[in-house]
Amino acid sequence: MLKVQNIKKHYHVRKWPDEAKTIRALDGVSFHLQMGRTLGVVGESGCGKSTLARTLLHLELPTSGEVLWENQTIANIGEQNYRKNIQMIFQDPYNSLNPRKRAIDIVSAPLQVNTNLSKQEILDRALDILLKVGIASTEAYKYPHMYSGGQRQRLGIARALILGPKAVICDEPVSALDVSIQAQVLNLLLDLQETLGLSYIFISHDLGVVNHVSDDIMVMYLGKAVEQGPKEEIMQAPKHPYTRALWASSPSLDRAKTKDVLALGELPSPMNPPSGCSYHKRCPHADLLCKEKAPALMPYGKTLVACHYTEKLN
Ligand SMILES: Nc1ncnc2c1ncn2[C@@H]1O[C@H](COP(=O)(O)OP(=O)(O)OP(=O)(O)O)[C@@H](O)[C@H]1O
Ligand SMILES: [Mg+2]
Repeated sequence: MLKVQNIKKHYHVRKWPDEAKTIRALDGVSFHLQMGRTLGVVGESGCGKSTLARTLLHLELPTSGEVLWENQTIANIGEQNYRKNIQMIFQDPYNSLNPRKRAIDIVSAPLQVNTNLSKQEILDRALDILLKVGIASTEAYKYPHMYSGGQRQRLGIARALILGPKAVICDEPVSALDVSIQAQVLNLLLDLQETLGLSYIFISHDLGVVNHVSDDIMVMYLGKAVEQGPKEEIMQAPKHPYTRALWASSPSLDRAKTKDVLALGELPSPMNPPSGCSYHKRCPHADLLCKEKAPALMPYGKTLVACHYTEKLN
């Protein structure tokens, strides 16, 4: 359904008047998202997950690479049509909802802009989607600040679904919520996926959450995928040294006994990414080859891994 081919997003910033720098926020990512499936995206803060989300939605144009929706370019389909098919749920329900609008108006707005439906039809559809996310019609006329955090995120989900998208990008959709509410919102997302046949790209720091919702996983490091493939494979037998280190350091996974438990150390800046393999400075297995040559993402078993020594290490 969604094919992403080697997309890059580089930002040009000026540190000093005469010193232009390039931030390689996204540096060549490819994947396919199939109908009804969930791709989990994990990686440390700053590795380019939100940049990926914004670029996929065309909120920002990619520096290079291609996004195909049902085998057509976005230019071909038209931005407006593309947006009907792919929507986003944001991390922070507090900041992503207009505080001066009532829930019903927030949810109706996309219909007013994108369709020719009558006022009554818009109202009916908005109430219907609110009900689907668990907000009763008696609650529909409140302002966002009158809701709890969980309800606000439900409202954000309703707004994302109102135009009937086929794919939804969820960027840390539960990390701002209390742990007790997180499970409710995750289960709502899973129910909606089943009833509406949605595909998700699910971005999260929390490996436990990603494990719960994903079919496939992509592990990102400094703007690139270092490992991607079916969830079972990647959760149970991570092959890239970075994936293993990330797994070992995760409080939400019960796998503290991985072969090599590693201290991750500080993430290098995407402004000055290391030469060769971008992980070599933190990797205990790195040698001269890693320092000099960037490894390509290569098939290994059922997964793709970007490491010169995948075979030796597994
Ligand atoms: N508009 C921008 N201009 C310049 N640099 C940017 C811009 N947006 C993001 N970056 C940089 O790109 C890199 C990736 O940022 P991004 O927000 O995609 O990371 P992330 O993986 O979503 O992190 P987090 O887990 O903290 O949300 C960071 O180094 C960030 O500072
Ligand atoms: Mg982010």
